[in-house]
Amino acid sequence: MSKALDGVRILDFTHVQSGPTCTQLLAWLGADVIKVERPGGGDITRGQLRDIPDVDSLYFTMLNHNKRSITIDSKHPDGKAVLEELVAVCDVLVENFAPGALDRMGLGWEQIQKLNPRMIMASVKGFGPGPYEDCKVYENIAQCAGGAASTTGFDDGPPLVTGAQIGDSGTGLHLALGIVAALYQRNATGRGQKVLAAMQDGVLNLCRVKLRDQQRLAHGVLKEYPQYPHGTFGASVPRAGNASGGGQPGSILKCKGWETDPNAYIYFITQAPVWTAICKVIGREAWITDPDYATPDARLPRLKEIFGVIEAWTMTKTKFEAMDILNEHDIPCGPILSMQELAEDESLRKTGTVVEVDHPTRGKYLTVGNPVKLSDSATEVTPSPLLGAHTDEILRDVLKFDEARMNKVRASGALGRAAHV
Ligand SMILES: CC(C)(COP(=O)(O)OP(=O)(O)OC[C@H]1O[C@@H](n2cnc3c(N)ncnc32)[C@H](O)[C@@H]1OP(=O)(O)O)[C@@H](O)C(=O)NCCC(=O)NCCS
Repeated sequence: MSKALDGVRILDFTHVQSGPTCTQLLAWLGADVIKVERPGGGDITRGQLRDIPDVDSLYFTMLNHNKRSITIDSKHPDGKAVLEELVAVCDVLVENFAPGALDRMGLGWEQIQKLNPRMIMASVKGFGPGPYEDCKVYENIAQCAGGAASTTGFDDGPPLVTGAQIGDSGTGLHLALGIVAALYQRNATGRGQKVLAAMQDGVLNLCRVKLRDQQRLAHGVLKEYPQYPHGTFGASVPRAGNASGGGQPGSILKCKGWETDPNAYIYFITQAPVWTAICKVIGREAWITDPDYATPDARLPRLKEIFGVIEAWTMTKTKFEAMDILNEHDIPCGPILSMQELAEDESLRKTGTVVEVDHPTRGKYLTVGNPVKLSDSATEVTPSPLLGAHTDEILRDVLKFDEARMNKVRASGALGRAAHV
């Protein structure tokens, strides 16, 4: 079966999480991704948070499926020469080094364009042009600088970061979209271009509704926020706890077993069109016509009380029992699922969203597969490469090196010690 990005070759100069997320997604869509790594250790995450001694960490394996690995010392003249040849035959260079690192390697945009005017050069950086453009950035810094932390958490607590990697993986996804768009434009222009996804921008994009609320605040208090009607609003959007970010009020409610199970909760949305059904399910038929509860506007100042009554009902059911009952009435709700529950979820296994992969030195482990499903471009998740596993293969098949050139560059030390396969 053909793949959406068949024929696209990517020079993957990424490391840690943001860049690798992007190139892994492109690999799943069919691109040939050649990951360039420093001889010796490679991507730093290979050795980080290791659960098994001397085996590539899950951190690395889960972000680098379907790629090939070549080790090249980019600061060695012979290594640089190999890199330049790769630039000439690839379509996209993806990198997420600290600002300036690529220029220091002698592979700035000018040089790339000289080597290959069709090359798309895609970068993740922490910040776009401005006062912080030279800063190194990791996930939580981006969450804080992009507006996620200031708007996450409870009103009486400090800013909170979220477990979803919206700074790293979120920006990687943004970058992948930019790359595909640039490839499409290149079909018409024949030219490459630079693509930049700054982590602050990516996070802010995902916090779009909070900038919406910032502007609404100028016209009055935010009535769907838990601060209404008894709390206070300041100059900027407050933290909304677990209140829904949309126009339909929602909350996380306890379910049966919450005293011992930290995930015995359900998210419950009091969607206006099913208000009658909600009242019937929880045994509060009087609320259907009571003017204090019958309309969305009347309910806004009473959300705390309303969710308290609904919770008294959800606490008599497990989250899955509550789901079954509420779904019968089309009441929007969702269980709080633990990672253990997600790992064991049969339906996610069937769709390939959770996949078991067999790694040559680690054995079997679970990963998140391609979350984007294309009907004519199926994803097969293959293990991440061992460090330098494809060095010879790439020199031979992609760069057409003969034995003599292979021996020369190997002897120079630019590829590190002999690659293990
Ligand atoms: C993530 C980050 C903070 C890590 O910083 P770091 O570990 O210090 O790594 P750097 O990106 O600075 O790169 C380190 C050096 O390795 C060098 N290097 C990388 N690959 C190499 C190779 N194959 N051969 C030789 N040197 C190599 C780089 O040239 C750089 O050297 P220099 O500083 O002398 O120019 C930084 O890369 C960053 O801010 N990236 C952009 C934002 C981002 O993506 N953050 C999220 C990460 S999940």
